[in-house]
Amino acid sequence: MILAIANQKGGVGKTTTAINLAAALAMRGKPTLLIDLDPQSNSSMSYIDIRNAEKSMYDVFVDNAIHLADVIVPATSPPNLSIAPARIALAKLEQRMVGELDAPFRLKDELATLNGRYSHIVIDCPPALGLLTINALVASSHLLIPIQSSYFALEGTDDLLETIEKVRQRPNPELQILGVVITMHDKRTALARDIQDQIRKVFGDKVFRTVISKSVRLEESPAYRESIFTFAPESSGAAEYYSLCEEVIDRA
Ligand SMILES: Nc1ncnc2c1ncn2[C@@H]1O[C@H](COP(=O)(O)OP(=O)(O)OP(=O)(O)O)[C@@H](O)[C@H]1O
Ligand SMILES: [Mg+2]
Repeated sequence: MILAIANQKGGVGKTTTAINLAAALAMRGKPTLLIDLDPQSNSSMSYIDIRNAEKSMYDVFVDNAIHLADVIVPATSPPNLSIAPARIALAKLEQRMVGELDAPFRLKDELATLNGRYSHIVIDCPPALGLLTINALVASSHLLIPIQSSYFALEGTDDLLETIEKVRQRPNPELQILGVVITMHDKRTALARDIQDQIRKVFGDKVFRTVISKSVRLEESPAYRESIFTFAPESSGAAEYYSLCEEVIDRA
């Protein structure tokens, strides 16, 4: 399964979902690769010291001599997790690739060179619908959309759905929406419950049963380069991301 985690809205829990879902899959014994396509490099930094990473996804995109396998490094833990790191240079990618007709297909072509080494590939996308997210959507079998439980939760989802439809029409008819996950939910408030109902009305059974609650532990764990499962194994975040992982495996 190649799973893009995308939503062009910023700060909705894409990275938190990508890093913890990838860890949960790896802990279930699945050889998992986490690809960071965000110039902010948040998911890379959650598992490795990117100063030590000589090459990044930027090099994979712009240098024909550098392939995906050349930039992959093992995560500090868990054992089955590997990382393809991002660097701030990715922010220049779009300008750099103007006029290159195969630009949206670079990631897909690179994934083909891995020869099935990973059973699960999780791609963390940046908060935009530009070339990087398009590369992820073209290369993926499935898409997971995190939606933050907040007043403007559904704003922008039309643009995302329109982009998905365009990608499906031509470059990737196989792309399926695996599901929508509600993040940063505060079950004590009536507003959050209303928002949840609204999201379920729009996306129906695409919405995962598992809802990710607001949790300080989930915010803290990346700073210690740990997933929630080793950082706070007894926390609600650990239980919820474990349960999301079960649903992801069941649906794929
Ligand atoms: N369930 C949660 N509870 C509390 N804080 C959370 C939760 N999920 C994410 N956060 C925090 O909210 C902020 C945004 O989350 P995250 O980085 O995962 O979003 P994102 O969609 O990847 O953002 P960007 O669009 O900038 O890439 C981060 O500081 C993160 O630690
Ligand atoms: Mg992010």
